Amino acid sequence: MNHDVFEKNSINLLVGILIVVAIGGLVEIAPLYWLNSTIEKVKGMRPYTPLELAGRDIYIREGCYNCHSQMIRSLKDEVERYGHYSLAAESMYDHPFQWGSKRTGPDLARVGGKYSDSWHVEHMKNPRAVVPESIMPGYPFLSAKLDYSSIQGHLKTNRTVGVPYTDEMIASAEADLEIQVNPDADGLEAFAKRYPKAQVRKFDQSSSDITELDALVAYLQMLGTLVDFTKFDATGPNLR
Ligand code: HEC
Repeated sequence: MNHDVFEKNSINLLVGILIVVAIGGLVEIAPLYWLNSTIEKVKGMRPYTPLELAGRDIYIREGCYNCHSQMIRSLKDEVERYGHYSLAAESMYDHPFQWGSKRTGPDLARVGGKYSDSWHVEHMKNPRAVVPESIMPGYPFLSAKLDYSSIQGHLKTNRTVGVPYTDEMIASAEADLEIQVNPDADGLEAFAKRYPKAQVRKFDQSSSDITELDALVAYLQMLGTLVDFTKFDATGPNLR
C-alpha cells in the first residue's frame, strides 16, 4: 500500500497536508490578485447622499447593528420575508459594511419604503407606540439638531477608500445635505443628477432644524431601494 508512507510517519503526513493545502490556497487566492474586483457592478447603485451618510453614521453610533442585520441570505424563508437576496454590489460603498451578525430585530436591508416617515419617527421615539410587543429601545433624543459640520471630510474619507464621490459632490456636500430636506431649495435638479433616486423631503415630520432623525429616516428609507429588482436579472444583462 502506497499510503503507508503517510500513515506510518507523521512528518510525511504533515508535509503532504501542507502541499495539498498550499495548492488549494493558490487556486483560491492567487486569481484575486489579477482581478480588479470580485463585485459585479449593478445598475442603480450610487454613493450615499450626504444626508443618508450622516444617518448611517447615527445608525453605527447607536449600535443598531447589534440587533439588526442588513444581509438577506439566498434562502427561501428569508427571500419570502425580506425580498430579493442581497447583492454584493449593494454594500460596495459601505465603509464599514453593516451586514451584522445578530437579528434580535428584523433584517433592514430592504426596509426602505416599507413604512411611512411618520411611522419611523414614532417608532424611533418609542417603538411600543407602533409595535406594542416590541423590545427595541426608544431613541427619543434623536430629535436633536444634526451636526453636519464635518460632512465634507466624511465624503472625502470615503473617496480615499474607493467610493466614487466626485469633486463636485464633495464641494457641495453641505449644501446637498440641506437640499435633501427642502423640496423648495435651489439646486434641486443638480442634486438629483448627482444622486439619482434620492428622496427629498423633511423626514422627521417637523418644520424645525435639520435633526438626527431626518438623517436616520432618510437612510432607512433608501435602504434596498436603489436596484430595480423588476428589471434585475442575475444572469448578467443588469451589468453596467
Ligand atoms: C435591543 C435590540 C435592538 C436595537 C439596539 C435596535 N433595534 Fe430596531 N428592532 C428591534 C426589534 C426586536 C424590532 C421588531 C419590533 C419592532 O418593530 O419594534 C425592531 C424593529 C425595527 C424596525 C422595523 C423593521 C421592520 O421591518 O418592521 C426598524 C426600521 C428598526 N428596528 C430600526 C432600528 C434602528 C435605526 C436602530 C438604532 C437606532 C435600532 N432599530 C436598534 C430591536 C432592536
